[in-house]
Amino acid sequence: MSTEIAIKVDGYSDIPESIKSLGLPLESEIESDKGLLLVGWHQDKLALFSDQSGPIYVDFVEGKVAHRRQFGGGKKQPLARAVGLSSKVNPTVIDATAGFGRDSFVLASLGCKVVMIERSPIMAALLKDGLDRAAKEVEIADIIARMSIINADAITQLEESEAVQVIYLDPMYPEKKKAAAVKKEMRVLQQLAGPDLDSVLLLNAALNKAIKRVVVKRPKGAKPIEGRKVNSEISSPNTRYDIYNLEAF
Ligand SMILES: C[S@@+](CC[C@H](N)C(=O)[O-])C[C@H]1O[C@@H](n2cnc3c(N)ncnc32)[C@H](O)[C@@H]1O
Repeated sequence: MSTEIAIKVDGYSDIPESIKSLGLPLESEIESDKGLLLVGWHQDKLALFSDQSGPIYVDFVEGKVAHRRQFGGGKKQPLARAVGLSSKVNPTVIDATAGFGRDSFVLASLGCKVVMIERSPIMAALLKDGLDRAAKEVEIADIIARMSIINADAITQLEESEAVQVIYLDPMYPEKKKAAAVKKEMRVLQQLAGPDLDSVLLLNAALNKAIKRVVVKRPKGAKPIEGRKVNSEISSPNTRYDIYNLEAF
């Protein structure tokens, strides 16, 4: 990865151990700021700072995620249908590519227990911070109680996990899109975590562990992940969910 990552100097003493232990340099020790990403505090939230955007943090309380919780279409929305939710069914889900945790939060807000796996230690620390803050909000505390985060590579973590009803994957799509087409936060995540070039291995690991189905989110028009044939798909304006059935609900 060409991007350098450093710790934002103010508030350094409060930076979580999980980030301190990565041995990142301090902002003040970096000479060039070309492609530099900083991790530090912004208004009591652990955040990423880049030259491409304002501070980015995990937010389950306000913004897009809150809007989607209220107006996203409940169990009729494409993500919920893809995962197999119905009035009677709330499967346990492993979200093996947690990212900002937005899809996980939607599933948890609809009643699923969600175990998030994220391999970037920085992203996992941002998620943990987002969960800790949200757990203090009365309105969503019960949703947050259904969510947990593991910092690991899901390909190995899934081998050690108990079998679970549904595994959800949303790996970074490797083909370059026009800069404007990729949202700012996703661009910063790509800068932080790099492209996910091992999606074939991840899909296989998920197919070996899920009991009922594996669901893969792809951009509309993108090819499915190579390998096993997709059984069915659910489309929304910009997104397609590829469904691999293992056992009927
Ligand atoms: C496109 S983002 C996911 C966005 C997420 N669905 C959301 O709603 O915010 C992909 C994330 O998956 C993570 N990831 C990709 N492959 C992984 C793997 N094998 N194990 C764990 N995390 C992985 C990346 O580090 C990145 O943070």
